[in-house]
Amino acid sequence: MKRVAFVALSAWLVVLFLIAVGLDATQEWTVYQRRFVKSLNRDERRGLPGGIQQIQVKPLGRVDRCTTCHVAIDKPQLALAEQPFTAHPGDYLTWHPPEQFGCTVCHGGQGLATQVRPAHGEITHWEQPLLRGPLIQASCLKCHGNLEEINAHVPLLRQGIQLYDRLGCAGCHTVHGFGQTVSIDLSDMGDKPWQLLDFTFVEGDHTLAQWIDEHFREPRRVTPGYRMTELPPGEEEIYPTFMPNFGLTDDQARALTVYMLSLTAESLPAKYTIPQTPRVQPAGYATAVERGRAVFQKYGCAGCHGEGGLGGRKNWNAQLGEEEPSLVYVKMTYDRDNLKQLIRDGRQPVPRRDPARPRAPSYMPAWKDRLSETELDDLVEYLLSLYESQVPQPAPVSEPAEAAPTEG
Ligand code: HEC
Ligand code: HEC
Ligand code: HEC
Ligand code: HEC
Ligand code: HEC
Repeated sequence: MKRVAFVALSAWLVVLFLIAVGLDATQEWTVYQRRFVKSLNRDERRGLPGGIQQIQVKPLGRVDRCTTCHVAIDKPQLALAEQPFTAHPGDYLTWHPPEQFGCTVCHGGQGLATQVRPAHGEITHWEQPLLRGPLIQASCLKCHGNLEEINAHVPLLRQGIQLYDRLGCAGCHTVHGFGQTVSIDLSDMGDKPWQLLDFTFVEGDHTLAQWIDEHFREPRRVTPGYRMTELPPGEEEIYPTFMPNFGLTDDQARALTVYMLSLTAESLPAKYTIPQTPRVQPAGYATAVERGRAVFQKYGCAGCHGEGGLGGRKNWNAQLGEEEPSLVYVKMTYDRDNLKQLIRDGRQPVPRRDPARPRAPSYMPAWKDRLSETELDDLVEYLLSLYESQVPQPAPVSEPAEAAPTEG
């Protein structure tokens, strides 16, 4: 009886062993490694490390096994044309040696994983999916404070930052302490767990990048019901988001998405970062109006009032045409002091068009002493100048030109 049990148990162990070996041989990474080795001649195979490869980067708290499959990433002489056997493009691994940087600090993904989808973080529970294609520019800002030095490598990121300034996002949002608090603080937008976002109306993948991108193209489709939590009970009825639809092109939406993904609270050891040098002040402007235009842009007035103060952004149930007002005509109703007072105090809530409907979601924020006295003076000059610059003025009436005498 004992003997029978022993034989049965042994047989069972052998089966388990075979299963384990079989599983290992079909692990995704072993399949890739074998495929790669097959492509090499005997000399090339010699000295090539096998098994799971890992780069441990203690100061960054990362263990990256990407090179288990990306076997030739730092061996251009062996690389093939297909993934995961290509060599790294550009000089990135020279500037950032793998043993000091690993891979995930730039690429995202899940360092420890050894299967393709989990390693690329393209599974539901992993917050940082691989930054594919040009989205990878989102990672540079966490170390490089000075974009000027890496300008050539981050065209989309730069475009995103410029758009953020030009369109006046700072009129509603704050990034790292600068901007208004009319809406969500974006300082760590790039870290936001995608599970916190509502994907009901998103058409593409359920990733943070996709949500942000679609929201830029059509904010009111992605957020058709925005609940203003700070409003009193009964007033918090939902309007579609008042984040403007800026009419962005695909490129512009992607550039802003890259900038948003770059915003992170992650703080890295000093030896990995290149601190920001103070921004060079733009060359002085000749006139108060020009300086004022820069103030208008800096604080994001355009986010609500449109570029050049032309208005047209939605503000549900606001008296003035359910829009944020155009500023072109302020010259007619305000003098310098009134304007300064209004900008300092703001106006909240704004008068309603239909008193029975809930309050308009957007308002004129109080700028208090966020603006210096000189900035305020210049800003006011700019606002007062809008009438002449934006409204087509009647052409000066001139004498009808004498008909040129015709040669007889
Ligand atoms: C199990 C094998 C495996 C592991 C581990 C792995 N990869 Fe990959 N990788 C692949 C394969 C296969 C492809 C090509 C298919 C694809 O793009 O998903 C690829 C493609 C890529 C690409 C190109 C994407 C593109 O859009 O062209 C990048 C970048 C990348 N991997 C980075 C990483 C990083 C970073 C890690 C570590 C966190 C990693 N990979 C770990 C197998 C792997
Ligand atoms: C300093 C940031 C940085 C680090 C560190 C880094 N990469 Fe990259 N990687 C990039 C950039 C940027 C690109 C895109 C370059 C381009 O398209 O010109 C890229 C491209 C790639 C691609 C090719 C994608 C394609 O479309 O062909 C693969 C694969 C890849 N990296 C894998 C790795 C692996 C594996 C590591 C770790 C050994 C690593 N990278 C480390 C920045 C980095
Ligand atoms: C984890 C931090 C980190 C990340 C992320 C990072 N870098 Fe770097 N990078 C560095 C450090 C540190 C240096 C070395 C700077 C030095 O020696 O002055 C460097 C050097 C460079 C250089 C060489 C600069 C020179 O003057 O020689 C370039 C170009 C560069 N990085 C581009 C990029 C790009 C593009 C990205 C995003 C895809 C990126 N880096 C992401 C930390 C980082
Ligand atoms: C008139 C005010 C206003 C302006 C200007 C504005 N936004 Fe928004 N934004 C909002 C509101 C309100 C929300 C929240 C409701 C929603 O999801 O649309 C929001 C949401 C967002 C979100 C999603 C945040 C999250 O965590 O859910 C991002 C990202 C964003 N805005 C970026 C921008 C950028 C970039 C700009 C400039 C191009 C901009 N916004 C301009 C009002 C504004
Ligand atoms: C979050 C949106 C928002 C931002 C940002 C904003 N405003 Fe306003 N602003 C409004 C709204 C809404 C009104 C309309 C108030 C009302 O209905 O009485 C308004 C009214 C005004 C008016 C009075 C217009 C009139 O015809 O009575 C001026 C002037 C003005 N804003 C200037 C500015 C300046 C300058 C900035 C930048 C420093 C700025 N606003 C930023 C929303 C905004």
